[in-house]
Formats: sequence, structure tokens, C-alpha cells
Amino acid sequence: MERLPGFRDFYPEPLPHPDVWSTDARQFIFDQWRTVAKRYGFREYDGPPLEPLDLFTTKSGEEIVGQLYNFKDKGDREISLRPEMTPTLARMVAAHERNYKKPIKWFAIPQLFRYERQQKGRLREHFQFNADLIGETDPAADAELIALLIDTLRGFGLTDADFVIRLSSRNAWQDFFKHGGGDSAHEYEFFQIIDKLERTPAEETEKKLSALGFSLAQVTQFIEAGRPTAELESILQNLAARGLKDFVKVDYQVIRGLAYYTGVVFEAFDRKGEFRAIAGGGRYNNLVKLISGGKVDLAALGFGMGDVVLLELLKARGLLPKFDSPMDVFVLIEDETLRPISLRLVHDLRGAGYAVEYPLTPAKPDKQFKRAQELKVAFTARLENDAYVRIRNSKTRDEIVTGLSGAANHLG
Ligand code: HAM
Repeated sequence: MERLPGFRDFYPEPLPHPDVWSTDARQFIFDQWRTVAKRYGFREYDGPPLEPLDLFTTKSGEEIVGQLYNFKDKGDREISLRPEMTPTLARMVAAHERNYKKPIKWFAIPQLFRYERQQKGRLREHFQFNADLIGETDPAADAELIALLIDTLRGFGLTDADFVIRLSSRNAWQDFFKHGGGDSAHEYEFFQIIDKLERTPAEETEKKLSALGFSLAQVTQFIEAGRPTAELESILQNLAARGLKDFVKVDYQVIRGLAYYTGVVFEAFDRKGEFRAIAGGGRYNNLVKLISGGKVDLAALGFGMGDVVLLELLKARGLLPKFDSPMDVFVLIEDETLRPISLRLVHDLRGAGYAVEYPLTPAKPDKQFKRAQELKVAFTARLENDAYVRIRNSKTRDEIVTGLSGAANHLG
């Protein structure tokens, strides 16, 4: 039986095949995401992987809706696996925002599902670090979130030579569109053309733009001028004060595909341009209101960073550590009459917090010793009799004999 295309098997290291993924690397990434988020005062939340279909169809925009894993459940409900976390977050916040002081700073690490064409950096399932800040309109919040994004990537050892945050604003594009005589009914259509600029042939873009009353030259000129809005200027200054100036640049080519973004938007890319976006996000000041049916009106912004591109980038830059999980102690059982007391020792040492292995069934002493070496244990322990245990330090080869109850004191 084969696994589904675009889905992954995760194995412990060392990996048995180039086509599988590493649980150790995954845990390494999750740990780093959690550590930095907590340093910035973000609290962890989670939601269900299945949601009512209309949570996504009304709020996310065409592109993502075309990629939904949706079906009817046995109760005839139209449901979908979550393709992104933001609508769930908006729903959760709208339901209980009164219980939390503003701004709300939350993060999550959901597994998401999108029926995408499988390609480099894009699968049909991925894990995504989401950090969102809700209830603050000031650009100071945007700067704080972008600083978190930068520091998350720096935490993995990446530098300003490896990645850049391309900062943009839908407000700037809105002004451009309005002043150029664009019809507001076609604004999102216009945003979609800009979003696809890099991936679409020029003639095709030109055709689409002229249907809306614009030219490619006009658009290119606006992007090249790259004049920051007052809001973007304030974010840049805030980041410069932290010493993070070199990690950001204004780039109006970024506009983001999702429909709900309202203002500042940004994406993180590797400097060499070898990979797809590492992360993306922005302001979505209307989504909570929309999802709560107008009951709760809270400004919000956030970003999502996937594990797929990040892992490719860390691998390419040699920034993944070597993963092994050495055990603390191997309890050798050479005399089977001592097995019951040995089991007691194993159990007590585990209870004291040590990682302990032992032979499950009778085995020759040299085989046991070999296994202890393979596991890279710091100590081996062998009962001398029913009261004393011999502990050997694998590195120094020092040995001591101690009473059973004091064994744990010699494992430091
Ligand atoms: P997004 O740009 O769709 O934004 O996804 C964010 C990141 O998730 C991407 O930059 C990429 O690293 C990763 N990603 C997306 N799709 C895939 C895929 N098929 N395979 C592998 N990785 C993928 C959002 O999802 C927004 N909800 C983020 C957000 C949070 N905005 C505000 N708060």
C-alpha cells in the first residue's frame, strides 16, 4: 500500500530512505517555534482539524477554496479539513474575546491540508507555525510580529544573508487602483493579477490589466519606485531601532493571495530566490467581524510559516543538527536470577528521570554490551548480587559499586 501523493511519512533518525521525513527534525523545528513565540509573550492555542465548509468558502478567497479537502460527514454536514488556521482563530477569538486582555498574542502549530499540485516546497499537507496579534491597530503591532518572524528564522542560525522579509501594503495598492480610476468591484481581481505577476507571462498580465484600465508599465513603475507609506515607514523605523533593518525591504510585488488581508502584508524569502515563500502574513482587520456576523470587531494581523520550505532551506545551508537520542543507562542482565531485581532498578532509575534500556529477553553478555554501545549510553549498570550494583562510566571507564537505593546518585 502506497501513501497518498503529497503526504509524508515521518521516521526517527537515521532515516531509512531519502523519500521519508524525520520526526527528529520536525521536533527540532517545533521546539524552536515554541521557544521564540514564548519569548515574545505568545500563548499556544489549537483548534479542530475539521471545520464546517463555509468557514473557509466565504472567507479565504478562490485560490484556497479550489484546494479544499471537503466532503459530507455521516451526519450530512458539509465539512472540510483546514487549509489554513486563520479562520479558525478568528472564530475562536470572536467566541471568547472578553476573557482575554488585549492585545491577544497567540500561536499554534496546526497540520494543514491543501489539494495543491505537488511541487518543490508545496505538498498536500504541511505543518504551519501561526503567530497572530489581535486587538491592536497601531503599526507597532506589525513591527512586533515581523520582529518575531525574523527572530524565529534567526533562531535556526539563518542570517540577513540567507533571507529577507518583503514588506508591502494593500493600502498602497488600493490607493494606486483608486487613483488610476479602478472600479472597486474589481479590486480583488486586480490584487490577484499583482499576486501572480512573477509567475505569469508579461503579455497575459498586460491583457488582464488593460481590461481593468491599467498597463503593465504603470504597475512596474509603481513597484520600482517602492515608496513606503507612512505606516510602512513607521514599521521600518521600529525594526531599525531593534537592529533588524537589514532583514526587511519594501517590495510592492508582494500583495498576498488570500482575500481577507486589509493593510500591511509581507512574505519571507530566501535571498538567493531558490525556494518558494518561507512565510507569509499581514493585517486582516475585518475577518473577526465577518466571522462573528458583526458581533465582534477586532483588528488583527499574523503570519504563517510552513515546515516544508524551512526544512529545505535549513538542509541547504547545513543548519540542521545531527540527531541522535543517547540513552543515559543500560542495565546489563548477565545473571537471569537477578532479572527481577534488575527490573526494579530499571524502573526506579526511570522514575528518577533517566532514560534506561535493558535486554527484554535473555541475551549473551557481549550482545548486551554491543547494544549498550550502539545506544551511546553514558553509563552501564550491572547487579553484583541482590543488594549491590556496579556502575560504569562509558567515557572515563571509572567503575564504582554502590547499594541499590543509591544508584541514581552516581549517574551525574
Ligand atoms: P499562506 O501564505 O497560504 O498563508 O501560507 C503560509 C506559509 O505556509 C507559506 O509561506 C508556506 O511556507 C507554507 N505553505 C502554504 N501552503 C503550503 C503547501 N501546500 N505545502 C507546504 N507549505 C505550504 C496562510 O496560510 C495564512 N493563513 C497565514 C496567516 C496567519 N495570515 C495571518 N495569520
